[in-house]
Amino acid sequence: MAFRISEEEIQRRVSELADEISKDYEGKEIVLVGVLKGAFVFLADLMRKLKVPSRVDFLAVSSYGKFTETTGQVKIIKDLDHPIEHEHVLIVEDILDTGLTLNYIYSLLRKRNPASLKTVVLLDKPEKRLVDFKPDYVGFTVPPVFLVGYGLDAAEKYRYLPYITELEK
Ligand code: IMP
Ligand code: MG
Repeated sequence: MAFRISEEEIQRRVSELADEISKDYEGKEIVLVGVLKGAFVFLADLMRKLKVPSRVDFLAVSSYGKFTETTGQVKIIKDLDHPIEHEHVLIVEDILDTGLTLNYIYSLLRKRNPASLKTVVLLDKPEKRLVDFKPDYVGFTVPPVFLVGYGLDAAEKYRYLPYITELEK
């Protein structure tokens, strides 16, 4: 059976994450930093379920592909539109796999002196990790299979699916 997370399960878990985050950021405004493109669906749902005000900004990084995976080289293709100094920044990512992408983005944004910096990932594939990176909030821990839907793509396809499913060969 292919691994699958239903639309209902996703929505329930995103609500739980939003409640937890809302509690932790009570009285503060969050700057949600979405990592394009995969995170945009999750970010849009999360943002509307938060009980604290938020602003949104996006950045895009190059995918490093199979060959460069071990070098850990990630490049910024699109930077944030606004400075984040003194802001409470929450990086929103679709999936944590090797950890190279988030590790790079985290270090980069840390240098800009935000008031606080945390990460939320909808999906975590711990078995594929190459660098030690611990996200602050995790939606689901998933097996090391290739997943599509709810923002996640395979060559730009399937992002529109309201559920997440394993891409079968
Ligand atoms: P990593 O943690 O640096 O390996 O990279 C995570 C990024 O790889 C995510 O932002 C996704 O764009 C992509 N990725 C990793 N696993 C999957 C998957 O199962 N489906 C779709 N994209 C994935
Ligand atoms: Mg991504």
